[in-house]
Amino acid sequence: MYVTGKQRLGVNIDHVATVRNARGSAWPDPLRAAILAEASGADGITAHLREDRRHIRDADMEALRAGIGIPLNFECAATDEMQAILLRLKPHAACLVPEKREERTTEGGLDVAGDEKRLAGFIAPLRAAGIRVSMFIGHQAAQIEASARIGAAVVELHTGHYSDLDAEGRAEEAAAELDALRRGAALAASLGLEVHAGHGLTYENVAPIAAIPEVRELNIGHFLIGEAIFRGLGPAIEEMRRRMDDARDPG
Ligand code: PXP
Repeated sequence: MYVTGKQRLGVNIDHVATVRNARGSAWPDPLRAAILAEASGADGITAHLREDRRHIRDADMEALRAGIGIPLNFECAATDEMQAILLRLKPHAACLVPEKREERTTEGGLDVAGDEKRLAGFIAPLRAAGIRVSMFIGHQAAQIEASARIGAAVVELHTGHYSDLDAEGRAEEAAAELDALRRGAALAASLGLEVHAGHGLTYENVAPIAAIPEVRELNIGHFLIGEAIFRGLGPAIEEMRRRMDDARDPG
């Protein structure tokens, strides 16, 4: 069971597979990274099986499903192919994201409001199979309300825009985006949704997001895998954990 009040850290290991695939070899192994992340305080592992399999592959998902002791958050697009894989593997959670082949990373949130009927039908068998369904969305009320209506258990709020504004030194706009994320988190929680957040989070920008009381989980990948080059994956995760805990309880 999860400890009440503790914010969970989900570690996204996609880019371990990116490095592996750069050489077409068997290493570094994403499962080994996931097991090390678990030993270093990660509360869950997130992996994104993209349509083009550019990093995580089907066999990685199978290995993660069988090989880790913490929840697996299976990130994917809402396609028939992915639905079939989800129903076969039955991970703890499925995080549905928009996907474009030409993008470098998940650029925006899912348009739940604009695709409500199809997504309601898409998630129904996943819910029936006991998979916690999470919608990766922006902070707009329409998207949050639509996610609640279709019966999603979780919304993950996209922090990429906040992260970009902060990195560009656009402090006022970053503050406004942060306020919008705070309002979105409060609205989602008031509708009974569990609130997660992620994308673009680093040691420098994580504190204000971690401090949002309704946010129960952060999913962080690219920065941690990069930082692991310098200090090792375990210490990189432990430092993020410390920063999250400090942000929630500065005293
Ligand atoms: N959450 C979701 C839904 C994502 O798509 C990603 C990126 O794969 C992340 C979290 C992690 O983002 P980052 O790799 O920038 O930390």
